[in-house]
Amino acid sequence: MKRFLDLADFTREDITGLLALANRLSEKPEPQALAGKILGLLFFNNSLRTLASMQAGMSRLGGSSFVITPGAGTYQIETRVGVTMNGAAAEHVREGVPVLASYCDALGIRAFADGKDLEADLAETTFNAMAQLVDKPLINLESAMSHPCQALADWKTLDDVQVPRKGRFVLSWVWHPRALPLAVPATALHMAAMRGMDVTVLRPQGFALPAPIMEKARRAAAASGGSVHETADRHAALEGAHIIYAKEWGATSAYGDVDADAKLRASLTDWCVRDNWFDTTDPDCRLMHCLPVRRNTAVADEVLDGPRSIVLREAHNRLLVQMAVLYRMLKGDPQ
Ligand code: CP
Repeated sequence: MKRFLDLADFTREDITGLLALANRLSEKPEPQALAGKILGLLFFNNSLRTLASMQAGMSRLGGSSFVITPGAGTYQIETRVGVTMNGAAAEHVREGVPVLASYCDALGIRAFADGKDLEADLAETTFNAMAQLVDKPLINLESAMSHPCQALADWKTLDDVQVPRKGRFVLSWVWHPRALPLAVPATALHMAAMRGMDVTVLRPQGFALPAPIMEKARRAAAASGGSVHETADRHAALEGAHIIYAKEWGATSAYGDVDADAKLRASLTDWCVRDNWFDTTDPDCRLMHCLPVRRNTAVADEVLDGPRSIVLREAHNRLLVQMAVLYRMLKGDPQ
């Protein structure tokens, strides 16, 4: 495996194979498997889980890593093509990325959506421009529309708590003071569809996921025996749900327009997951969220601190599944 960029690049069997490897490495650690290997990590955006779990995973396999956060102890790096660099950035990705790749055996890059031009973000313009400069194994640590490491951890979490393969998965928009990117909701949707689940995207008017994202998920669902629906009717969506996957995202009907987005979300503060959201779900329904989560805005304390929440297991699984990705990339198939 040379690239881990989008769940859709893999078959269902590829993914279940990675999850089996994650379980195997958890039960039977291989602390020297990647001895001498170096992972480079380039973070254009903040992180807690992705940064710490990639470094910890590489160390647990005997390798090492370095981290570059442009503008924080290193030069600001320009990502746009063809600009006159008379601003803050002293380095361009066209030099910076291949230089970093030449120092390591695999590179991970986080570069969120620009959030201004939906077409450009759907086309992964920024991430793809960097990806083509990398001649080493490459991991997407969250781009405009894809967060495959999160999705892999989410799939493992569903398996861990024995959510039925064909169970009801509700991806619900939840409130946040500002527009957040689409990568996690898009990838969580695709993951659940690919797992074969009965998926509902629950979101207010104005916050529908872009048509190409929905169509891609529907194709994955068709291939795995699942289904994908969307609605703004919370009561109908939550009935019989096995999972409520809470996520904040920006108004797609006002993409890049901060004021219009703010107006749309101003009256939606009741989109905060509370205990009463589970009144008509399956009795064992669980709450998932990729973290970080704002308490009592997106999800109430009573849910995050209660037995339904599996958010900490999800976050821990990031470490385990990424170890499997690194192992498969840098060592090949396990013996
Ligand atoms: N879920 C996730 O990717 O967390 P971080 O932004 O902290 O890496």
